Amino acid sequence: MQTNKEFILGLPKAELHVHIEGTLEPELAFRLAQKHRIALPYQNVAELRRAYDFSNLQSFLDIYYAGAAVLKDSDDFYELTLAYLKRAHADGVVHAEIFFDPQTHTERGIALQTVLDGINPALAEGEKSLGITHRLILCFLRHLSAAQAMQSLEQALPFKDCLAGVGLDSSEAGHPPHTFVAVFERARAEGLHAVAHAGEEGPPAYIIEALDLLHVDRIDHGVRCEEDPELVRRLARERMPLTVCPLSNLKLRVVERLQDHNLKRLLDQGVCVTVNSDDPAYFGGYIAENYSAAQKALGLTRRELATLARNSFEAAFLAPADKAAWIGKVDSYLRSADTD
Ligand code: ADE
Ligand code: ZN
Repeated sequence: MQTNKEFILGLPKAELHVHIEGTLEPELAFRLAQKHRIALPYQNVAELRRAYDFSNLQSFLDIYYAGAAVLKDSDDFYELTLAYLKRAHADGVVHAEIFFDPQTHTERGIALQTVLDGINPALAEGEKSLGITHRLILCFLRHLSAAQAMQSLEQALPFKDCLAGVGLDSSEAGHPPHTFVAVFERARAEGLHAVAHAGEEGPPAYIIEALDLLHVDRIDHGVRCEEDPELVRRLARERMPLTVCPLSNLKLRVVERLQDHNLKRLLDQGVCVTVNSDDPAYFGGYIAENYSAAQKALGLTRRELATLARNSFEAAFLAPADKAAWIGKVDSYLRSADTD
């Protein structure tokens, strides 16, 4: 009898919500700090890991932005990205849509070209040697201004061919989506997809703004939609995907206990929810751990796990034929497995 963990590992999955800077494991952070002669305010890996005890989103972001300071040259971004792809491959990820935060790097003098010269070859290598297909999504930091976001987009447009879309991340409360209407409009006019973090810590109104003003294709997190039943009905009716990150929600105290998480309730109401890892190096698990922890806490059946994987392909920025092919593989995998 296959265990649930084995079932999850073998299930073909797309990861749609992972910040490449959030995959920086403490071991690599220390190695890069040594390489660049940067002093970290922690003695060793164990001490750094102990600092990953967050009370909310901001307490995490403070450590996350400080950690990104060790990423300096293209080799660092290459190593970071390839390490993530190997880890994701081991978890059964066949397609990854990866966020990066260029402003975190350009603000400290690292050129966008340097960042992309590391990430892009790693993505190509991941596709060649691991068979993982990919999309890259440039995120704007919402704690910075709309003008800075526009400047970041303008810097990125010469590299548009390697970008699938734009996103919006960082400190949510007090930074509503409507601030970024012009930059999202410009990005969409350039043919880029749009996504936005909304309803992680922010209210349901931010989800509505992301839908109606930024015209996003997906909502990242979105779990606070449940406070507005009409919004939940709308998300279900429109098959608007939510990229949910259970372990992130637990670590950042969006939920007190995983048993309280609304992933299953949203699934039951027909919302296109997906499971993702967000910042796996900080939140104690890559995608399979997220599926597994949600499965245990919420008692998800194998059929429900397969629906989550199917949703991940439905919500991906893949060609319709590729989505259909992966959904077919999920279906045949489920048929061949012992079902509960
Ligand atoms: N940047 C990295 N992870 C994030 C999250 N969970 N929410 C907002 N911004 C982020
Ligand atoms: Zn995120």
